[in-house]
Amino acid sequence: MAKRYFIALFFVLAVPAVSFGVQAEIKLDDKIASMHKAGVGPVIFPHAKHEKVYKCNDCHPKIFSEKRTENNISMKFNMEGKYCGSANCHNSPKAFALFECARCHTGVPGAKK
Ligand code: HEC
Ligand code: HEC
Repeated sequence: MAKRYFIALFFVLAVPAVSFGVQAEIKLDDKIASMHKAGVGPVIFPHAKHEKVYKCNDCHPKIFSEKRTENNISMKFNMEGKYCGSANCHNSPKAFALFECARCHTGVPGAKK
């Protein structure tokens, strides 16, 4: 009885989380004109990889809005400690540094994509 209840609960809670899952990789290119001027391509943000290391509310909504259009990420903001450059992130020893352009941007020498 209890077991069946828990199995049902599992499907109610877990299945929607999977089916509404976020794309594993999100292409960030709102600032594409500025990127082209600087000689870099769009950012492929590995959402799934970050989900493994952090909790949703480490990032949402304090650092990044979940609404694609509401973030205004730029390198200036990143370097000022916002967005990707937040404390404990790519402006700290915990993650690779902001000057490693090719680890986030496509279209630069050394980039994976
Ligand atoms: C390391 C930070 C980080 C973590 C942890 C994180 N996210 Fe995100 N999430 C982002 C970023 C960055 C974006 C892209 C925002 C943008 O497009 O401007 C995003 C986008 C989203 C979107 C919008 C996707 C779309 O295509 O419209 C949803 C929904 C979302 N996240 C949910 C979650 C959930 C649920 C979790 C936990 C399982 C989670 N996020 C964990 C940083 C994070
Ligand atoms: C930790 C990841 C990361 C690193 C490292 C990084 N960027 Fe970015 N960059 C981003 C994100 C995210 C955006 C915003 C993408 C969007 O939404 O358009 C961005 C935007 C930009 C833009 C357009 C907006 C603006 O600020 O003018 C330029 C140009 C840019 N990056 C250049 C660089 C250069 C040059 C380097 C290396 C010195 C670099 N970036 C390193 C993540 C990164």
